[in-house]
Amino acid sequence: MNHPRVDAVAGEAREAIERAASSAELEAVRVRFLGRQGALTQLLRSLGTLPADERPVVGAAANEAKRVLEALLEARLADAAGRERRRQRAQSRLDLTLPGRRPSQGAVHPLTRVHDEIVSIFVGLGFSVAEGPEIETDFYNFEALNIPRDHPARDMQDTFYVSDATLLRTHTSPVQIRALRAAKGQVPVKTITPGRVYRRDVADASHSPVFHQVEGLAVDRHITMADLKGTLALFAREMFGPDSAVRFRPSFFPFTEPSAEVDVRCFMCAGAGCRACKDGWLEILGSGMVHPQVLRNGGYDPEEVTGWAFGMGIERIAMLKYGVDDLRLFFDNDLRFLRQFA
Ligand code: DAH
Repeated sequence: MNHPRVDAVAGEAREAIERAASSAELEAVRVRFLGRQGALTQLLRSLGTLPADERPVVGAAANEAKRVLEALLEARLADAAGRERRRQRAQSRLDLTLPGRRPSQGAVHPLTRVHDEIVSIFVGLGFSVAEGPEIETDFYNFEALNIPRDHPARDMQDTFYVSDATLLRTHTSPVQIRALRAAKGQVPVKTITPGRVYRRDVADASHSPVFHQVEGLAVDRHITMADLKGTLALFAREMFGPDSAVRFRPSFFPFTEPSAEVDVRCFMCAGAGCRACKDGWLEILGSGMVHPQVLRNGGYDPEEVTGWAFGMGIERIAMLKYGVDDLRLFFDNDLRFLRQFA
């Protein structure tokens, strides 16, 4: 069922559809021929003006042409849309060869690291962590530890006093008394006490007004200096390596009797003697058998129990272990220094 007028419009539309290169152009063609003002639509609308005998023929031809064109448009539109989707996907594809952006990685502070290491060695030996206040009484910091009134450590030059009877603790030893009193006469007592301590020192390569100590205390019925030596020898091996050895030198502390300073064999020269150690040994801590009066002050009978104690500086251990020659580096928080411990 053909008709010259319908054929002309349909032919033109077909050509336009063939030429259209995108879905947008196809849509424009649809509007041009099949839209409300479109050429074919207009033609259908003008049927009424035709002679009565032409109307059915033209009408049928126009409707047929409309159906064919719509189907053709639909097929071409699907093609074009698919092509466009593929192109868009190709353009926005992830480039997996781009190097990633690394988040900068933090590191545990060397003092925290050494602190954790010391604590975990003693926790592994059955010690429990005991803590005490940094603002301490004169009684716990000095009096109960057998440090006499005229002892130089009590001097205003050495201690930060908060008031006559309170001060910033100058060592972690007061926690010995607190731990003993808390244990209320039970044995054994095995505590490890890490913490911050304060002294009126001007900061230099080996002094800081605030630093850290770890205190150890063991009290039991039959505990001896041999237990202390064995424990510290094991500690040295864990901390400084399997070839480490310790040496005890007689010393004096008011709260221990006898007292000893403990050295670890220099791990830089293996004991031969070097710039760091001079005679092959490095001092790491103070220790001794708990003084009978200290046991009494903690609520224990020195006829019934004995004990030993030690105290070491975390900064000192860290300096030895990592070969750091200036204490201030730990507190400056210069990232170039801290990053080396990542
Ligand atoms: N409290 C001492 C100090 O700060 C260290 C110390 C020495 C602690 C001997 C002890 C010890 O427990 O037995 O220098």
